Amino acid sequence: MQRLARFFVLLFLLQLALAAPALAHGDARPEKQAILLVAFGSSMPEGQKALKAFDATVRRAYPGMEIRWAWTSRIIRDKLTAAKTAHPESPALALARLAEDGYTQVAVQSLHSIPGEEFSDLEDTVARFRGMPKGLRKITLGQPLMTSPEDIQHAAKALLESQGKRKPDEAVIFMGHGTPHSGNAMYPALQYHLWLLDPDAFVATVEGVPSLDDVLPLLARHKIRSARLVPLMAVAGDHAHNDMAGKEEDSFASRLKAQGIASTPVLQGLAETPAVAALWLEHLRRAVAALQDEPK
Ligand code: CO
Repeated sequence: MQRLARFFVLLFLLQLALAAPALAHGDARPEKQAILLVAFGSSMPEGQKALKAFDATVRRAYPGMEIRWAWTSRIIRDKLTAAKTAHPESPALALARLAEDGYTQVAVQSLHSIPGEEFSDLEDTVARFRGMPKGLRKITLGQPLMTSPEDIQHAAKALLESQGKRKPDEAVIFMGHGTPHSGNAMYPALQYHLWLLDPDAFVATVEGVPSLDDVLPLLARHKIRSARLVPLMAVAGDHAHNDMAGKEEDSFASRLKAQGIASTPVLQGLAETPAVAALWLEHLRRAVAALQDEPK
C-alpha cells in the first residue's frame, strides 16, 4: 500500500516535471513601447521632407521612445527600393519587426488626411496583428487628421491660421486627394467649416467631391482675382507639384489661369505645417495614452 502511495507521488512529481517546459512558454517579456508612424509615402524628396519634419516633432515630444515609420503605398515603396534610395516598410512588415525586436506595445499613428481606403486597409492590418501568438500585446491606432466632427473644426481653424493674412480678392484653395470611399465626405464637411470662418476659402479635390469644376463658378461669383493653392495632404509631393502647381493644362494652376485667376502655390505639406502637425500629434498622444487603458 505504501509502495503504491509512493508510486503515485512519483507519478505526480513526474507530471509536474513534464509540465515545467509548458510554464516556460509564459510571456515574461518586459513591457516595451514604440510608436509607428504610417504615411501614404512620397517618391519625391520635396515630399519626404514633410515626413522628416514630423518625425523630428514626434521625437521632441517623446524623447527616448522608439519611433519607426511605415508607408502604405506599395507603388512608392517599390519605386524607392528599386532606386535604392531607401527601403520603406509596409505597416505589416514594420509591426512584425517591432514584435520580433521585443516590443510589446505599439501606438500606430496614421498620417492620412481622411479615413479613406488607405486608412481602412491600415485598420485591417492592425486588427490582424492583435492577439497574434508571441506577438505584440497591445496595439492602438491614432485616427487620420479629419475623422471626428471636432477634428474638422480644428483642421479648418489650423489651415486658415497657417495661411495668415491674404489680399482682399485673394482666395485660398486647399487641394485634397479625393476618393470614391465614403471617407470623402470629410472634404465637403471641411468646406462647410472653412466657410463659417472665411467665405473665400475653398476645398477642391483631384479625384473626389468637391472638384475644381465645382469651385470655379464660386470663384467667379466671389469675384476672386488670385488664389493661393495649398495641398491638403501630409506631403507636398507629386500631386502638389504636378496636379496642383504643374505647367500641364489640366493642373489647378493652369485651369485657374484660363479663368483669369493668378495663383501662388504653397509647396508645403500639412505634416510640416506646425498648426496642423499639432493636430496629428494630439491624435498620437491619445493613441499612446490608450496603451495604458486596459490591464495587459
Ligand atoms: Co494619388
